[in-house]
Amino acid sequence: MDRIKISGGNELRGIIPISGAKNAALPLMIASLLTSDTLTLENVPHLADVEGLMRILGNHGVDIAVNGRRERQEDGYSRTIHFTCRTIADTTAPYELVSKMRASFWVIGPLLAREGRARVSLPGGCAIGTRPVDLFLEGLAALGAEIEIDGGYVNATAPKGGLIGNHYRFPKVSVGATHVMMMAATLANGTTVIENAAREPEVVDLANCLNAMGAKVSGAGSKTITIEGVTSLSGARHRVLPDRIETGTYAMAVAMTGGDVTLEGTDGALLENALDTLRQAGAEITETPSGLRVVRNGNGIQPVDVVTEPFPGFPTDLQAQFMALMTRSSGVSHITETIFENRFMHVQELARLGARISLSGQMARVEGVSRLKGAPVMATDLRASVSLVIAGLAAEGETIVNRVYHLDRGFERLEEKLTRCGAVVQRVSE
Ligand code: UD1
Repeated sequence: MDRIKISGGNELRGIIPISGAKNAALPLMIASLLTSDTLTLENVPHLADVEGLMRILGNHGVDIAVNGRRERQEDGYSRTIHFTCRTIADTTAPYELVSKMRASFWVIGPLLAREGRARVSLPGGCAIGTRPVDLFLEGLAALGAEIEIDGGYVNATAPKGGLIGNHYRFPKVSVGATHVMMMAATLANGTTVIENAAREPEVVDLANCLNAMGAKVSGAGSKTITIEGVTSLSGARHRVLPDRIETGTYAMAVAMTGGDVTLEGTDGALLENALDTLRQAGAEITETPSGLRVVRNGNGIQPVDVVTEPFPGFPTDLQAQFMALMTRSSGVSHITETIFENRFMHVQELARLGARISLSGQMARVEGVSRLKGAPVMATDLRASVSLVIAGLAAEGETIVNRVYHLDRGFERLEEKLTRCGAVVQRVSE
């Protein structure tokens, strides 16, 4: 198992290219199940989760060609990938595959819409709370699907003539359930209105791609999404939007270490709330023609309170990284997690580096310290792992982050991007 070794203390200076968004690429790839034509996605990040989903889609009959060739391109940054699902080969998504990545559960929407049935294992994935699927199932049931849970699998069946458009209000905002219901409704009979929909930029990106495929989706990005069903979808070419979580993560790393970095190919409008929070903490952030410039010179880090919320609020996927930053602030900050009940696993690991954090229910109280000291650490989810990297960059001495496979799920060439900006980061294979 690989580890990452960090010798902390260097400022970050240079350019970091921002990859395509993992959380957009995954649902976009799954949308290829909706058509027998080719869906071409540009700017697909090279990540373990993307590779894993390719295997799952292959199982359902999707033919995948990377940059027009069949072989994998192991050394490329974000790639162009062609997905073609002439016929659905299998409507079952087995436990062995789905348990590795929660988002693969989302195939249930397209399979049901196109084939009228799906048998999908209940998911696993990051250990950040219980993460149920009730909202997905309620949403699909509202479209007329019959749902049965049997032996750890969800068996979903559409009515004889296909799914039926309907009005449905999600009792709670869910990104995944919004993606799935939107995809399923594109091929339903009649019009579907989703209320209390997730407003994340990745939902808008999926809607744009579905519309390029011939769907009739309007309102994505607002709380109400309307989908007029069509009889079939065609292929399309679509560029995955930049990763706002990767953007925010590197912006926080610069705020932490000091320095001057341009985040290339990203868009500040995707994460205004997080950038405003970082500005309050003392970072100077400006839009440039190619992305964002993040500077922190000399001045310390101010404590700022945050509460995670659905978009456009502060993202839960940046909570751990922001906590790492706050461990070095000049006062006390409070970080409240409202999306996932168990997303504080990084706290005890940050404490190993000398952070002073106390937990009370959903709130962490972070008392800034003047120095962190390197130590071996490990984390059990993707964003928590990268928060330890950020802390390690600012800690004195050596930090070893174990279980790097979490980072590989969501951060393309992390150590290379940081090294190019002056950090001392090295991957060590065992
Ligand atoms: C997506 C993102 C993830 C991010 C999360 C919140 C991807 C691949 N993952 O995850 O990185 O952290 O959005 O921004 O895009 N819930 C239910 N019942 C359900 C579904 C969800 O109660 O059926 C709850 C969850 O437990 C959680 C909340 O709703 O408390 C939000 O989860 P959701 O938005 O669905 O997250 P994901 O789509 O899984």
